[in-house]
Amino acid sequence: MIKKLVVLSGAGISAESGVKTFRDSNGLWENHRIEDVASPEGFQRNPQMVLDFYNARRKQLQEVKPNEAHLLLAKLEEYFEVHIITQNVDDLHERGGSSRIIHLHGELKKARPIDSESETIVWENDLNLGDLNSKGVQLRPHIVWFGEMVPEMDQAVKIAETADIFLVIGTSMQVYPAASLIQFIPDHCEVFVIDPNLDQNFVAADHFLKTSATDGMRKLIEILLK
Ligand code: OAD
Repeated sequence: MIKKLVVLSGAGISAESGVKTFRDSNGLWENHRIEDVASPEGFQRNPQMVLDFYNARRKQLQEVKPNEAHLLLAKLEEYFEVHIITQNVDDLHERGGSSRIIHLHGELKKARPIDSESETIVWENDLNLGDLNSKGVQLRPHIVWFGEMVPEMDQAVKIAETADIFLVIGTSMQVYPAASLIQFIPDHCEVFVIDPNLDQNFVAADHFLKTSATDGMRKLIEILLK
């Protein structure tokens, strides 16, 4: 039977595409304090600044492309049932060719009304104050901010519970509940970690590849397809 490979990815997988990670730059996200641009309170205080911030991130997607790590994950679909659970809000897994992707923390290219978590709208351009849904409610980025529910978590847990192989790639494992997914894998599941900086004692892994996402993915494929 085809094995199920479940991937938990974070900002580090997009680093070699030129997208900045969060915790490597003194807790600042593209020069902004996370609590200013990634919390409901920050949005209440200064909504247009927050919208502008995500408008800039959305624009940046046009300047970056998937790297070899994204592409190799898509290639693994030839050999495994691959499920990607990403904390990233970029679309590089999609553009890399992966087909089963859960965005735990939302997506830059979607908007939603401020009064509903589930009603999402594809949004490719700038989002501004005054952009409303059909019921006249202000739209905001479809991003899960700190202190908010993670609506896709239940689905992600179900997938983790049935993993044969679990890969953690490019995440500092600091943000919950995403980081807790690894606690749901079954006993027989083999665990791989790819990260150049993560402390080996932090995540119990069968194979800890302390290297970049692209190099690590090449090594992982060598091991898995041996
Ligand atoms: P972090 O910035 O916390 O962690 C990035 C990880 O990537 C670190 O462990 C780095 O060592 C690693 N890394 C750096 N360069 C790499 C490379 N070339 N190849 C592989 N790994 C590399 O990012 P996340 O763990 O994704 O939430 O952060 C989790 C969440 O916190 C994000 O989704 C975001 C943030 O607040 C929201 O925006 C809601």
